[in-house]
Amino acid sequence: MFADGSPQEAAPPIDIDAYDPFELFDRSMGADEVRDPYPEWAVALEQAPVRQLDPSQLQGVEQAAAMGIEMPDVWEVLSHKAVSQVLRNGKAFSSSGYAAAMGVVMGPTILVMDEPEHSRYRGLIQTAFSNDSLAHWESDVVRPVIDRFIDDFESRGHADLVRDLTFGFPVHVIAGMLGLPTEDLPRFHRWTIALICVAFDWQLGLAASAKLAEYLTPIIEQRRERPGEDLISLLAQAELDGHRLDNDHILGFLRLLLPAGAETTYRSSSNLLFGLMSTGQLAAVRDDRTLLPQAMEEGLRWEAPLTGIGRLCTEDTEVEGIVIPAGATVAVNLGAANRDPSRYERPTEFDIFRPQKQHMAFAFGPHRCLGMNLARLETNVLFDRIFSRLPNLRPDPAAKDVHITGRGFRSPRELPVLFG
Ligand code: HEM
Repeated sequence: MFADGSPQEAAPPIDIDAYDPFELFDRSMGADEVRDPYPEWAVALEQAPVRQLDPSQLQGVEQAAAMGIEMPDVWEVLSHKAVSQVLRNGKAFSSSGYAAAMGVVMGPTILVMDEPEHSRYRGLIQTAFSNDSLAHWESDVVRPVIDRFIDDFESRGHADLVRDLTFGFPVHVIAGMLGLPTEDLPRFHRWTIALICVAFDWQLGLAASAKLAEYLTPIIEQRRERPGEDLISLLAQAELDGHRLDNDHILGFLRLLLPAGAETTYRSSSNLLFGLMSTGQLAAVRDDRTLLPQAMEEGLRWEAPLTGIGRLCTEDTEVEGIVIPAGATVAVNLGAANRDPSRYERPTEFDIFRPQKQHMAFAFGPHRCLGMNLARLETNVLFDRIFSRLPNLRPDPAAKDVHITGRGFRSPRELPVLFG
């Protein structure tokens, strides 16, 4: 493929800084076009837990036809049972399908690996994301980062909590854990989002991949020689079968961790704020902080920030009585599963007091989100700081039609609030 197997060499010379990747990515994920995909998914689920999608309705169909590419056979799983069956069975439902796009811009990463390779690589970093290991990041990184963001608007008495807080803080947290300099953040936050734009803009994704490699490689080498307490140092020291990880594999981890850590927690915490404020349940959690964990999980169930992931079917496999054929691309609808009426009463309602049952927002099986403990920790600290520092937080009555939007990724574009 490329001379050294890495994607950066093939990156075409485009001016990445001329793009607004945040806006581009949001739009490609249906922001402002798709307000609520859930009714359509509910109708589909009522008809069958698994369905074959009409190829003419797939995204990118015209582009593919123009390029002479045949559209894949796509099947969608919607029920909670079907989704867990698919995600549990990594042999029949492989993650290798991501290799064609994400794999090219990220390099070798656990996201695209199957067992047993996947567990060996994931094991290198898994303990760093356990609750015990995360404890010191709370005081060293998460809390100071969130407090710095709040410092900037606390005295104003009003804010847009998306622009002023939720959008920026998770990337500062992951950058802090990686030990990356704060002053470089605006640049690599842009590159991080541009990287995942590969799904619809190949050149932009490749250019971002190259920029990140150029920026991160000297840092990896420096940490290999002089390790610190950060996650890059951990990866630079990690050994597999007696060999240190090479730069490509470390870059793969970093190119995955940055967008995975940045894009999701910002949206999930925005969705939770929106859910709590729009249904009048904010006060209950503010007055009894022990309710926060269940509110968090209900927010993730009700409005998962990432509603769908993909798998490749490797052998004819029956799922809830329907055979998905070998070679099919499988669209795993986490959003529909989270509102499956056979599992949840009143599934469309955000109700922090409903009985807790495991949701699918973090997926399931071997690829279950590596960063879920971190996401929970970040959200916990975020709400603790919001409740302590922004008294009487309430939606700004002057704001019109604030709502959650998007299909693949979902969150509100703004959250105007008053406080004090
Ligand atoms: C609320 C926030 C988050 C949500 C909803 C979320 C969701 C997900 C989902 C659905 C997957 C499965 C992808 C697949 O199998 O195709 C995943 C995987 C992953 N997530 Fe998260 N994520 C969140 C936060 C984070 C954070 C903060 C990090 C770390 C900085 C992170 C790192 C990862 C990694 C490395 C994987 C790949 C795991 C593997 O393939 O074994 N995530 N996440």
